[in-house]
Amino acid sequence: MSWFKRGKTAVLGIDISSSAVKLLELSKNGTDYRVESYEVEPLPIDAVVDKNIVDIDSVADALKKTIRKSKTKLKHACVAVAGTSVLPKTIQMPADLSDKEMEEEIIDRIDQIFPSYEPEKDSFDFEVLGENADSPLEVDVLLAASQSEKVEDRVEVLAQAGLKASIVDLEVFATENAYVLLSKQLPKKVRDKTVAIIDIGATMTTLNILSNYRSIYKQEQNFGGKELTNEIKNRYGLSYEEAGNAKRNGSVPDGYKIDILDPFKQAMVQQISRALQLFSLSSASRDITSIILAGGCASIEEIDQTVENSLNIKTYIANPFSMSVSNKKDSNTHLKASMAKRLSKDAPTLVIACGLALRSFD
Ligand SMILES: Nc1ncnc2c1ncn2[C@@H]1O[C@H](COP(=O)(O)OP(=O)(O)OP(=O)(O)O)[C@@H](O)[C@H]1O
Ligand SMILES: [Mg+2]
Repeated sequence: MSWFKRGKTAVLGIDISSSAVKLLELSKNGTDYRVESYEVEPLPIDAVVDKNIVDIDSVADALKKTIRKSKTKLKHACVAVAGTSVLPKTIQMPADLSDKEMEEEIIDRIDQIFPSYEPEKDSFDFEVLGENADSPLEVDVLLAASQSEKVEDRVEVLAQAGLKASIVDLEVFATENAYVLLSKQLPKKVRDKTVAIIDIGATMTTLNILSNYRSIYKQEQNFGGKELTNEIKNRYGLSYEEAGNAKRNGSVPDGYKIDILDPFKQAMVQQISRALQLFSLSSASRDITSIILAGGCASIEEIDQTVENSLNIKTYIANPFSMSVSNKKDSNTHLKASMAKRLSKDAPTLVIACGLALRSFD
């Protein structure tokens, strides 16, 4: 098992997030992608906290359920870890070094490359991208770091569920990968411009800025739909689970929209606005042409309009599967009507799983 390994076999995309385990299997025909199966299995509260797997057994149980329900035959999977707080970096190295020699040289230089790297806790992986454009004697090498424990826990969960973790990716690469499909939602002329993908999940808000299909900036904040669920729970005296269900199916008392939902939408806008402001102050700063909203909170009614009107940036709700769903006339479509309906609802929460499943076709 190694990070970045080129997938020669088809892999399931497995996203282990704070609220659920998400499984996705894609197939490809020419340039068309299709969803073969997908499942989302909720996790008990606190099984995964801040991207750390606290309760390996319950996560493995949830994963087993998704595998069973999906009826997938695949035995290999790609999982993601969040990186350390630093973005992956591209460095140059002499072209004639062996992998082993490269690894040794990186170990020597690691604290210059990633100043926050802790050798006892962190691990890194690298991939040779190819010859450097300016100097043919050098190659570009992509280097990323994560906490070793995060990688090991995910591999263990997969093993318990009978899957082999053949690829461990970074979340930031998974999002970048998924943009190949997400970008199809945007007008052609802005696809290669600067685009903000903002994922607002249950506990975390992640901003990924891409320019010309490459990630140039990433930032995380503790903010998510859990706060809205807690509001509902406290206001109406419901259990956390009841509150979560009420939120998703709209079975909420009168006054909910004005008292709770609208203020939360404003809080989302503020969060996004603050994140974009931080980006504009960074060295990577550029004008953003479009926003793609992902994560469960992207399903909140008219949130795209609210964000677009407040920030004056064209805003889309992430749907990496727009093609496979709209392709209804295709008589070969594997997508049963019921799954298509479910999928169009869940699509914004499947961006990372999608980026991972796409590694089947590297
Ligand atoms: N229709 C909806 N309206 C409002 N909130 C929703 C809706 N659907 C899902 N959510 C909320 O979205 C959140 C789950 O989204 P998602 O699956 O993206 O989170 P996650 O990936 O598990 O979280 P994180 O990325 O923070 O680990 C939950 O808080 C859920 O209540
Ligand atoms: Mg998430």
